[in-house]
Amino acid sequence: MTEHPTRSDQDLAYFDERRSAEVVAARNGAAADARTAEVLGTLVRHLHAGIREAAVTPEEWLAAIQFLTRTGQICTDWRQEFILLSDILGVSMLVDAINHHRPDGATENTVLGPFYVPDAPRYASGENICLDGKGEPMLVRGRVIDGEGRPVPGATLDVWATNDDGFYDVQQQDVQPANNLRGVFTAEADGRYWFRTVKPRFYPIPDDGPVGELLRALDRSVNRPAHLHFIVTAPGYDRVVTHIFMPDCDYLPTDAVFGVKSSLIAQTEHVDDAAEAKRVGLPNPFWRVDWDFVLVPTA
Ligand code: BEZ
Ligand code: FE
Repeated sequence: MTEHPTRSDQDLAYFDERRSAEVVAARNGAAADARTAEVLGTLVRHLHAGIREAAVTPEEWLAAIQFLTRTGQICTDWRQEFILLSDILGVSMLVDAINHHRPDGATENTVLGPFYVPDAPRYASGENICLDGKGEPMLVRGRVIDGEGRPVPGATLDVWATNDDGFYDVQQQDVQPANNLRGVFTAEADGRYWFRTVKPRFYPIPDDGPVGELLRALDRSVNRPAHLHFIVTAPGYDRVVTHIFMPDCDYLPTDAVFGVKSSLIAQTEHVDDAAEAKRVGLPNPFWRVDWDFVLVPTA
């Protein structure tokens, strides 16, 4: 009987359980894009290690493939279930974190989320972005400054939030007024900004698809704690994509997308002062949040 030649350990042409990730990496051609090969090689190495460590069965792997298939199938022009999956796995926050290291005291980034809409209406300072009249009135005011406390006049603050029923305007286009709870403000000469809104409340991320299914299988909350979204920009400064979180929300420690950072939790004040309410154009009593955004010059 003829013996087949044995292949040496160095030979990565054929599958080898012990060196499976190396076999995959060795298949790349000489003209492979270097960065693609690097990132994919690293991910394949960790994926193979995970499969080995958890001893994944064929049934479990098929279930994972079916989950990813459903994740793709539910995507539309306005629903991106893969980003949601990245959010609930902490990957969106990690990619943001490793790319936005900032000095102490600078406003930190957090997750953008799927409900940002460019070109929201521009408002003068003090205007009210709540167009449906629901919720507890709230004044948000503060300054946009640099790390030395100097004003950043002309900074743009793009803000968006859910209404008091826990939905963004774009999720309820036949129910809410267009551009409800969103608008763009400009910091004044001394860096000050202020606007009127309503106190945000917690709400569930879209949970009627595979991501919601996964969260329930893991006995995890589908809720995001109450927050206002901001994108703050000014020429010559890093763009800040961030939130202000409400301090009294029960869901701060269980945010479905890991967006909470302790530096982004504000203090709220319940103001009962009829004269002050009249001065700022809100019913009495009202909530007040003082919040400064600290920008970092672009490197
Ligand atoms: C949001 O805060 O709007 C959000 C962020 C991530 C996923 C879903 C919603
Ligand atoms: Fe949100």
